[in-house]
Amino acid sequence: MPATSANLGSGFDSLGVALTLYNQVWMEESDTLEISSKDDVKIPTDESNLIYWSAQRLYAECGKTLPGLKIIQENNIPMTRGLGSSSACIVAGLIGANRFLGNPLSRSDIETLAVKIEGHPDNTTPAITGGLVTSAMDGGRIYSVTVPVADNIRFAVFVPPFELKTETARGALPDKYSRNDAVFNLSRSALMTSALFSGSLENLRVAVQDRLHQPYRKKFIDGYDTVFRLSYELGSYGTCVSGAGPSILSIVDAEGAAVFEQYAISSLEEKGITGWRMLTLLPDSDGAKIFIE
Ligand code: HSE
Repeated sequence: MPATSANLGSGFDSLGVALTLYNQVWMEESDTLEISSKDDVKIPTDESNLIYWSAQRLYAECGKTLPGLKIIQENNIPMTRGLGSSSACIVAGLIGANRFLGNPLSRSDIETLAVKIEGHPDNTTPAITGGLVTSAMDGGRIYSVTVPVADNIRFAVFVPPFELKTETARGALPDKYSRNDAVFNLSRSALMTSALFSGSLENLRVAVQDRLHQPYRKKFIDGYDTVFRLSYELGSYGTCVSGAGPSILSIVDAEGAAVFEQYAISSLEEKGITGWRMLTLLPDSDGAKIFIE
């Protein structure tokens, strides 16, 4: 299951891209619930585990009861950092459970069920399909288009040492926006999809701009202004908050990715911002994959 970065600045709750960083999950049908982790990451090992919970939800949707499950998780996607770790768990639970039942649900049914669990489609859909995804919900169903990201594009992700819960980040958003702000984001999110698809890097600096969520969330991200400024000094084409934050995503090219890898963290440290990590990633084009042993 790939990591995902939602919003891409202007595309709040509607745009997302899959990235080449993966969680792996081993699942086996069982009469009891047995959950463990292959690494030091703390995960719930009871019924609240998101993989189990999502699997159970799919069984219920198909009129079945899930007796238990053996789950082993390998958690490479940093948790509560705006990189789609929960969506990866939801998608793992759903596609694993669907496989156990002989694939009764279509991919589109799974996309819709994932959104019912997560609440918005911009991480779950790219985690399923890979690529760059534009999604909308209507009448309880998801309508989405997946396109590849242009070959020249890479992503440099600044991952902070602190967490930000999506509920907290969503709780800070206003209930109403002005028409100006709505038009500002609409035009830029449309530009973002075509710029990432076509590789027209010169449009990204404008396409990434946002007035719907980042201005209200920046207070939760210590170092926000410094990281944004540094990213542009290092040659980012466009920088935004990844998902609800707190990670910060820069869109770069291959040369830019090498520069970020070498200088981003040391430059931040020189500015007194410590504990951050840099992940340079490619767009993932495959989405969730299932292997049968
Ligand atoms: N679109 C969502 C948000 C992504 O910004 O709240 C986080 O799950």
